[in-house]
This record gives sequence, C-alpha cells and structure tokens, in this order.
Amino acid sequence: MARPVVWIPRRLSEATLARARRDYEVILNEADTPGTADQIVEMSARVDAMIPCHSERFDAAVVARLDPRLKIVANHSVGTDHCDLPALKARGIAVTNTPGVLADATAELAMMLMLGAARHAVTGDRLVRTGRWDFWSPAFLVGKQVTGARLAIVGMGGVGRALARKARGFDMEIHYHNRRRLPPEQEQGAIHHDSLDTLLPVADFLSLNCPATPETTGLMTTERFRQMPPGSILVNVARGTLVDEAALLMAIESGHLAAAGLDCFREEPGGNPAFAAHESIVMMPHVGSATVRTRDAMGFLALDNIDAFFRGETPPNLL
Ligand code: DGY
Repeated sequence: MARPVVWIPRRLSEATLARARRDYEVILNEADTPGTADQIVEMSARVDAMIPCHSERFDAAVVARLDPRLKIVANHSVGTDHCDLPALKARGIAVTNTPGVLADATAELAMMLMLGAARHAVTGDRLVRTGRWDFWSPAFLVGKQVTGARLAIVGMGGVGRALARKARGFDMEIHYHNRRRLPPEQEQGAIHHDSLDTLLPVADFLSLNCPATPETTGLMTTERFRQMPPGSILVNVARGTLVDEAALLMAIESGHLAAAGLDCFREEPGGNPAFAAHESIVMMPHVGSATVRTRDAMGFLALDNIDAFFRGETPPNLL
C-alpha cells in the first residue's frame, strides 16, 4: 500500500522530520514560511495529512475549499484558535493538537518574563550592554520581589499547573480561575476563584494561561486592569488576543501596572510597536515552547496522532 503523504509547512525539529520521512512521504516547505490560504488549499489535494503550526489558518473560508483527500490536520501546537474546529469536523477532517508536552517549557518562559518584568531586566541589560552603566545606588533599579507574592493564574490547564509548580519554588501564593475547579491533588493548595472579580484584586502577578476562545478574547480590558492591585505585573504566554493592548498600554503608562512580560501579541509576527517605548515591558517573539526537548516532543506527539489515525485508531489527542 502506498504510504500516506504528509505536508509539513514549517521547519519542525530534525528528529521529527527524520521520523516523519521514515514513515511517510513528506512534503516539507523548505522555505519555512507560513502556509497561506491558497497553499493550504492547493496542498490539500496532494496530501492525506498536514502538520501545521499556529501560523497556518484553517478558517471557515479555507476549510470550505479543502480537497476531500485531506483526512487529518495534526497540529504542532496546543492552541487551536487558528482552526475553525466545527468547520473541519463538518468536513469529516480529524483534528489533533499537542497538549501536555509543552507545559514545562512554556511555564519556564512565563517565569523568565515574570522575573524579568519584576526586576527591570530590559533596562539593566541595555545599560550594561551599551556601556552606559555609570552609576549605582541603593535606590537604583529597585524592583518588585517575586518570592512570597501572590500569583494569579487564569487557566489551570497543563501550562497553568506547570507554572504553579515552578512558582511554589519561589514561595508564591497561588490563586487561580479556571472553567472547572481542580481536584485537590491538582490544586496543591492553590486558591480557587469563581470569577475574575475576586481573582484580579489579589494578583500581585497575573499570568494568562487560558486558550483563546470567543469567551476569552479581549479578556483583559481597562476595567479588568483597574481591578488589579497598583504596582502589579501582567504575564502573557498564551495568546495576544486575550489582551486589549491599548488598555494594557494605558495601564502601564498610568503606572497602575508596574510592568508586563509578553510572549504573545495581537499582531504576529511583529508585535506592538507602541510597547517598544516602555522598558518595563519585557517581550519575546512567541517562543514559549521553543526548546530542543519540547520541539521534539511536540513533533513526536503530532506524529503519534497521525500514526494512530492511519492505523485506524482514535488519535490520542483528537479534538
Ligand atoms: C502552542 O502550542 O499553541 C504554542 O503557542 C506554539 O504554537
């Protein structure tokens, strides 16, 4: 029997590509550019499976044009907001994602952003790097202490729980809001809040770790930033659409928020140029899961899903 053909639009890890080539006919986009709507549609007539990233958009208009040859979209991401899931399901196309395996790497980046935002990492780095560090005083670059502070987490999925585990190492008091309250063995003493109205006022640090859905789009508004304590810090390693960026800018410029650490933006790639004027905003270019170990794990999980599908089994991460 002919081997299934798989389209890989972005450069996945070498180990992932080697395994994919061992088991499938692989068409790799060597240019590593985001797959456009037309490319996705064109490739759907040539392949049985795709392993896209969050950079390939399967919106309703694209899905309507897909060729019936395409049977599975095995995402190399935990987030699936780039996919119109009901539309794909209606077309009978299986969709999977890669939960769990990127939780630690993404939580590490959230910790990095939290610490960097709390301790003026951008300013400090710039001063030393540019040779402009010509002054020291006990009043110089005084930051906010992370140890013992209250960390409020919105979304206690894999990343939120991994972040809570790491933050406990900093003696942080963990508060959270989640669609469902966690069982005690997962809560590990974290304090559950039914609503953001009680969570935000205790958020010395607020970390967004929920998926982007119609319900969470624009979650952080001017009003919600106001509910956070003065001098608090926002961390976002989830999706840019969770935050009203104009409202965030106002909260930073007014001094109500001391700082922010962002790995996600409404406009990606690119980010928000208005943030660049503020060294209190630490920024990274959507690389939460970008470690060697995690990239391999994500690629392997996407392949596990395709393998199961072509064996006639239910893929482990079928959505
Ligand atoms: C994810 O997996 O959703 C990350 O944001 C990387 O795409």
